[in-house]
Amino acid sequence: MLKFGVIGYGYWGPNVVRNLANLEGAHVSAVCDKSPTARRRMEKSHPGIPVTDDACAMLASADIDAIAVVTPVWTHYELAKAALSNGKHVFVEKPFTTSREQAEELIELAARKNLKIMIDHTFLFTGAVNKIDQLLKEGTLGPLYYYDSTRVNLGLFQHDVNVIWDLAPHDLSIMDYLIQEKPEAVVATGQSHLNGHADVAFITVYFPNRIIAHINVNWLSPVKVRTTLIGGEKKMLLWNDLEADEKIKVYDKGVNITSSEGLYNLLVNYRSGDMWAPQLEQVEALGKELTYFVDCVSHDRAPFNDGEAGLRVVKMLAAANESLHKRGALVYL
Ligand SMILES: NC(=O)c1ccc[n+]([C@@H]2O[C@H](COP(=O)([O-])OP(=O)(O)OC[C@H]3O[C@@H](n4cnc5c(N)ncnc54)[C@H](O)[C@@H]3O)[C@@H](O)[C@H]2O)c1
Repeated sequence: MLKFGVIGYGYWGPNVVRNLANLEGAHVSAVCDKSPTARRRMEKSHPGIPVTDDACAMLASADIDAIAVVTPVWTHYELAKAALSNGKHVFVEKPFTTSREQAEELIELAARKNLKIMIDHTFLFTGAVNKIDQLLKEGTLGPLYYYDSTRVNLGLFQHDVNVIWDLAPHDLSIMDYLIQEKPEAVVATGQSHLNGHADVAFITVYFPNRIIAHINVNWLSPVKVRTTLIGGEKKMLLWNDLEADEKIKVYDKGVNITSSEGLYNLLVNYRSGDMWAPQLEQVEALGKELTYFVDCVSHDRAPFNDGEAGLRVVKMLAAANESLHKRGALVYL
């Protein structure tokens, strides 16, 4: 039985606590939040679980094996470092840290103490991403052309980070998982309108083999959109994460260009075949992910969404941030 302490019971923390509480092989020993309102909500939802405002006592408790850090981004490094220093495994929310140096330090600390770090890149455990991964691996889509995602909604405004650090980790972690090539360079543009942090941003990531990715993140959108287009040489797909059924539609569409001798013009053939919506696994991704974390710790296995995966995402975020501040300059990774 892996005994957890959870720090942070704001918006996302309740999902982590609920899933851990339902998980065989895990036990929630205590939940910590410095907000009295959050603590009252927690007590009401889980009367049997001790609640505290004292993170230090929880981090030092001999009765806890792992800490879930579900607090705002700027606190991840300090809390994860304290947890690792006290000999606890850590499950840290995305994005891992606010700088590559912090991420590298935590990875080194965990390795030295033989502890596990796992970053909550929740989407990697969804039926949709697993299906896309399968379609890419088995060659159904063919060589990849592009990944183009729109992740926009009204708020929730974060006070510590801009919209890139809040929303782009989802797509960057998905790209890191799906695209085998290492990203080469990033360009980002954006603007802040309300609280000094960019609330609208457009990120382009260049990969080898002419693969390009684009992410549109926005806290000022009147409607929530979660749409990703993935284009391959053989097939293309549309993933609408807000669809209840048929989240993914695969299109047998494409373009073939041929030129015959003697012809000045290229011959462009558009292929327009069937569309189908593959069956997706229906599970709560966070529950699957936490089960995997418990399994990795119990069997001393490194999770694939470990500190290194978190660091790769942080590097892309930092490069996007730098480019944003330089009004769209190309930043090499
Ligand atoms: N994986 C996902 O899909 C997903 C979704 C939403 C948020 N998140 C991540 O979860 C984290 C938290 O986001 P949120 O939206 O829940 O934030 P939030 O502000 O709603 O909640 C954070 C909570 O942490 C508490 N807190 C902050 N510092 C603390 C400390 N030192 N000790 C004890 N309590 C402390 C606050 O009082 C608050 O209740 C962020 O890193 C965010 O990126 C992940």
